[in-house]
Order: sequence, then structure tokens, then C-alpha cells
Amino acid sequence: MKIELHELSPDPDRFQVEVCQGLKRSQKELPSKYLYDERGSQLFEQICTLEEYYPTRTEAQIMAAHIEEMAELLGPGVLLLDYGSGSSAKARLLLDHLRDPAAYLPIDISREHLLRAAVELARDYPELEVRPIHADYTGAFELPPFKRVPTRRVAYYPGSTIGNFDPLPAEQFLERVAKVCGPGGALLIGIDLVKDPTILHRAYNDSQGVNAAFNLNLLRRINRELGADFELEQFKHYACYNPRERRVEMHLVSQQDQSVHLNGMTIHFEQGESIWTESSYKYTLERFAEVAGAAGFSIEQAWFDKRRWFSILYCRVQGA
Ligand SMILES: C[S@@+](CC[C@H](N)C(=O)[O-])C[C@H]1O[C@@H](n2cnc3c(N)ncnc32)[C@H](O)[C@@H]1O
Repeated sequence: MKIELHELSPDPDRFQVEVCQGLKRSQKELPSKYLYDERGSQLFEQICTLEEYYPTRTEAQIMAAHIEEMAELLGPGVLLLDYGSGSSAKARLLLDHLRDPAAYLPIDISREHLLRAAVELARDYPELEVRPIHADYTGAFELPPFKRVPTRRVAYYPGSTIGNFDPLPAEQFLERVAKVCGPGGALLIGIDLVKDPTILHRAYNDSQGVNAAFNLNLLRRINRELGADFELEQFKHYACYNPRERRVEMHLVSQQDQSVHLNGMTIHFEQGESIWTESSYKYTLERFAEVAGAAGFSIEQAWFDKRRWFSILYCRVQGA
């Protein structure tokens, strides 16, 4: 089956602009969405299989345990929008149980990975209309046309990816999702819960160094795509839990005083200075209810694993 990619790729200049802006700040930082080039997506898939990285496994267990109930809540004829779809592995669990879904729209910034996953999915679900969207979902974007009129729109946002947003942008993002889903719409979302920091530490500092490779790949990408001269061995992966902010922070720490050149700009690093590359906020149910509520969603159902490390929530668009 031929797959048509809905190409809304962000302006390539934007990568350069955002990287340069981020590296000029007093706390240097880079947007985590740029961690996902083709190699970054492959490394993320590898992270998901690590013994220390509990979120993927735990979320999949919750889904497996409650999939019938989830499919019932989503209902027949649904249009499923998968935000940050990655490999679409979790969406497959849903698609196996949904009654006659109208279409599946995976949305991802990582083009090749998205396309590959969509082709495989379309092959395995020949009756389903699959319309992949290559877009940066931090901004508004148009949906492609699809053949059937759905009964309702449901956004699927697994993987605790909402945790990559700071609190206000998280609310603004969910507000846009609520608008896209519209009256009668809903959101099925996976959130990582606040827990013992030692468990978090292990998950983001695995013994095989895959998290480190994922993090450092961002500098490799900047060298390749923007002609910078980062020396990768002079930066080290560092991830720690900040209990006050309830977030894991991922950094790349300069191992020496050094200068890096990028786009006619010279960026100085002191030894021990870091580039902040990702945040991963951990939620309590109460806190998430506040964010979702402010964005226009009401939580209708919550499922947990036995240890209460992770939760999947079914949220309805308010007033619908
Ligand atoms: C943490 S992974 C989760 C993947 C998958 N949903 C799962 O649960 O395993 C985040 C996914 O979102 C995508 N992503 C991150 N930021 C994005 C953005 N701003 N716009 C579109 N996709 C984005 C990444 O490419 C990646 O596939």
C-alpha cells in the first residue's frame, strides 16, 4: 500500500536559529525535540528495551491489562491522532482492539522513522487509512484530508512525552490538542509518576550508556547538519532528578575549557559548564489534573501499574 506523507516539516532554518539562540543563553540549552533525528530515534527505541528504563514496559503492561476498557471508551469509528508516534508500537495495541477506526494519523518530527513505522503499520492493517504527518507539534499544524467521517477525534499521547514540556508550554500544548479534538473528543495520555529518585536515576543513567549516546547524538547532529565542530569526547552525559521541580534534567557537561564554532559564532565553555538538553517532568495525579483542567480536559478514568510508577489517563474535552 502506498503511503502518502503529509509533509509539514519545520523550516530547516529554524533548527539553526533555535540551536544558536539556545547556546547563547547563560544556562546553555537545546530543545529536546532535536534529539530525534534518524539515529536519535533508533537510540530511543534501544532505551525503551533497557532493563533500567521502566516507563515503556510499565505503560505497555497497563495497556495490556486494560485495553478492552480503553477501546470501549474510545468507541467505534474513531480518528486516532498519535502525537510523537515514534515506532507506533503502542498504537498497535490500541488498533488491535478498536472497533472499525476511521483513520490513524501518526505525527512525528523524525521523518524517516515516522515513514518506516507508517509503511509497516499500513501493511499490517490493510483496511485502515494511515496518514503520517511530519510536523513539529509544538506549533499549530493542518491535518491532512482523510476519507471517512469519524465519529470523534481522540489524541493518543503515550510515552510520558508530555513530561518534556515545562508546565506552561505543557498546558498550552494540551490546549491546542483539545482544540484539534474538538467537541466529543478525548485524550489518552501516559504520564510518568513521581517516585523514588534512585529508580529515576537508573532509568536515565543506564549501565550500557545508551542514554549517553542518545544525548551526545545531538552534538553529532549539530556538527553534521550545521557544520559545527563539537568534539564529542569533550562532553559527558549527566542526568539527575531535581526533586523541587519534580523533573529529571539531562545535560551535556563540558570536560574542559573549550570553544566551539557554529555558523560564524564562537561559543565558549568553561570546564563543568553544561548544555541542558532535556527535561522529563514527573507528575502526581493531582498536578496533572490541574494542567489538563486548565487546558480544557477532564480526567474520566485513570489506570495504574501495581507499583504506581506510571499512569494512563482518559480525558474528555470539557463541555463536550
Ligand atoms: C519519548 S518518545 C515517545 C515515542 C512513542 N510515542 C512511545 O511512547 O514510545 C517522543 C516521540 O515524540 C517525537 N517528538 C518529540 N518532539 C516532537 C515535536 N516537537 N513534534 C513532533 N514529534 C516530536 C519524537 O520524535 C519521538 O518519536
